[in-house]
Amino acid sequence: MRKTTINLIIIIAVLCIFGCNKKENDQKTQSQHMDNIKVSNYGVTAKGDSIKKYTLTNKNGMKVEVINFGGIITSLTAPDRNGKYEDVVLGFTKPEGYFNGNPYYFGALIGRYGNRIANAKFTLEGKTYEIDKNDKPNSLHGGKEGFYTKFWNIEPVKDANFPTLKLTYTSADGEEGYPGKLFTTVLYTLTDDNSLEISYEATTDKSTVINLTQHSYFNLSGNFTKAVTDHELQINADKFLPVNETLIPTGEQKEVKGSPFDFTVSKPIGKDINSDDDQLKKGKGYDHNWILNGNGMRSIAKVYHPGSGRIMEVLTDEPGVQFYSGNFLDGKFDTKTGGKNEFRTGFCLETQHFPDSPNQSSFPSTELKPGQKYQTKTIYKFSVKK
Ligand code: GLA
Repeated sequence: MRKTTINLIIIIAVLCIFGCNKKENDQKTQSQHMDNIKVSNYGVTAKGDSIKKYTLTNKNGMKVEVINFGGIITSLTAPDRNGKYEDVVLGFTKPEGYFNGNPYYFGALIGRYGNRIANAKFTLEGKTYEIDKNDKPNSLHGGKEGFYTKFWNIEPVKDANFPTLKLTYTSADGEEGYPGKLFTTVLYTLTDDNSLEISYEATTDKSTVINLTQHSYFNLSGNFTKAVTDHELQINADKFLPVNETLIPTGEQKEVKGSPFDFTVSKPIGKDINSDDDQLKKGKGYDHNWILNGNGMRSIAKVYHPGSGRIMEVLTDEPGVQFYSGNFLDGKFDTKTGGKNEFRTGFCLETQHFPDSPNQSSFPSTELKPGQKYQTKTIYKFSVKK
C-alpha cells in the first residue's frame, strides 16, 4: 500500500474512535442532565388535576423548581458571595396559594398578553374583540383565567445540553376572548453558568395578538421579609412609557434623563422611589415599561444586592421591560422565609412588548398571523460581586 493511503486509513480510524467517544460522552452528558431533573408530587387542584413539581439542578448545585400549574417557578436558588445558595424568588408556602387565584402572579408564565390592554378590547383586521376585564376597565396578564391558571404539559428534554423542561399549552380559539387557537411552547433551561434561560414559541390558526412573559418576583437578599429598595438596579433604557391613572401607556415615549426613572447608571431602587413625581404616584412606585436600548439578544438590566453580593443580569430580545417594584404586595400571605409578604419585598423585571400595543399603532406590533412563528428568549443570569 502506498504511504499516503496508509496515512489516510490511520486518520479515518482516529476520527472514528474520536467520533464514537464523543457520541458516548454526549449521550452520557445528556443522560446526566436527565438525572438532574427530579419529579415529585406537588398537590391537587380544585379541578382534580394532580400537579407535579420538577426540580432542575446544575453542576454548581443551583436549583430551579417548576410546577405544571401555570408553568410557575416556585423556587430558584442563587449563591451569595460566600457560595451559599438561597431561594431568591417570592412564592407561597402552600400549593393552594397558587391554585386559588395567585393574586400577585407569583412566578407564573403570563399569556396570552402580558401587561394591560386598555378597556379590555382591541380591533384586529377590522373585527373588535372583547377580552376579560380583570383590572378595573382593563385586561391584565391575559385575564383572570390566563395562562398562569392553566395546566401545562411538561416533559424533560432528552437531547438538551443542560437540564431543560419543555412546557406546552394549547389555548382554545376564543379563550379569555382572544381569537385563534394558540399553540404555546416554553423551554426552561438551567445552564452551568447559573443562568435560567426561557425560550417562548407560539403559532396560531387565526390572526391574534400575543405577549408572553415570566412574572417571577426576585429578592436577592434571600430574606423575603426585607424590602428590595436596597437593591441597586441598572436598566439600559433612555426612555420609558408614562401611564394614565389605570396604568395604560399614554403613548408618549419619555426620556428618563433627570427623572426618578433614570436607571442608566446603577442606583438603589429606593433612592428616588418616594420622590414627588406624578408617574410614581400613578404607579404607587415603579410599575412602568422601559423602552430598551438596542435590539436583538442583549444585556438589558443588572441588579446587585450589596448585602449578599448577589447579582442578577437580564438578557432579552424583547423591546421592553416592565420594572415593577412590588407596590401591590400587601402582607396578606406568609413568605417562604417567615413573616408576611409586605410592601416592596420583591421586584419583577418582566421582559415583553409594550403594554396595550394592540391599541397603539406607534408601538412595535404584537400581532401573530397563521404561518408565522412567535419566538422570543429571556435569560436571568446569577453571579456574585466579592
Ligand atoms: C404587573 C403589573 C402590576 C401588577 C403586577 C401584579 O407587574 O404591571 O401593576 O398588577 O403585575 O400584582
